[in-house]
Amino acid sequence: MEQEKVIQAKDLKVYYKDHKKNPLSRQHRKQVLKGVTLDIYEGEILGIAGESGCGKSTFAKAIVGMNKDIEGELIQKYGDPQMVFQDPYSSLNPSKKIGWLLEEPLKADKTRTWTKEERKKRAKEILKAIGLQENILDRYPSQLSGGQRQRVSIGVALMKSPKILIADEPVSALDVTIQAQILELLQELHREMGITILFISHDLRVIYQICDHVAVMHEGIIKEYGVPKDVYKNPKSEYTMQLLEAAGIR
Ligand SMILES: Nc1ncnc2c1ncn2[C@@H]1O[C@H](COP(=O)(O)OP(=O)(O)OP(=O)(O)O)[C@@H](O)[C@H]1O
Ligand SMILES: [Mg+2]
Repeated sequence: MEQEKVIQAKDLKVYYKDHKKNPLSRQHRKQVLKGVTLDIYEGEILGIAGESGCGKSTFAKAIVGMNKDIEGELIQKYGDPQMVFQDPYSSLNPSKKIGWLLEEPLKADKTRTWTKEERKKRAKEILKAIGLQENILDRYPSQLSGGQRQRVSIGVALMKSPKILIADEPVSALDVTIQAQILELLQELHREMGITILFISHDLRVIYQICDHVAVMHEGIIKEYGVPKDVYKNPKSEYTMQLLEAAGIR
């Protein structure tokens, strides 16, 4: 059976304001995505690799609607994909307790109203899913370890049961053993909730380990796409080959 596409990017172009250029000139836009065509299939983990600055986060932000200056098509089967950011230190409001942070997405839920009891119940369910104890609900982010904070960030993203989770370098800020635990958690959520994951990472080995497909991005376009095993064995682009060599994989 052919799997359904949950996101289709067709010749997607994303621009930012270019502050270096004269704001009075007509073209003060900087193009970062230069025509990305990419499908994300229901229930898969798609990895995006590529060097710093190539446009990975720009693509992620376009999907969640954080980038507005866009051309091309972005077709989404479901609304409301949720994003987990790279840095668990800055992505959680330090002045709020974990319980508040978890409940917040439900207070802002436009699709339904959640009672206080329902919100608390959901927060406890999610805490369990992300492997944290209930006593954490009354703590502030600064009172958690980096790994715990990243679990909370993932939990916040999961509160409204999204069909799609976008994880932008979710383990880069963590040390190796904690990285492994968070990757294990993402895989578990993927298995148990059937959630589709867009996984952005510098780390080609991690992508190999957890992703069904990999897309290699370079200077705002997709250079290579396929099943990691095939791509790593037989890269078609020179750029992918360089990345693999730099990572010591070839
Ligand atoms: N808000 C913004 N305004 C202007 N330029 C931006 C903005 N955000 C990103 N850029 C630029 O767009 C390009 C791509 O950035 P992006 O954050 O998508 O890269 P990335 O592939 O995620 O890199 P990294 O691996 O370092 O996270 C970079 O040149 C960056 O400086
Ligand atoms: Mg990025």
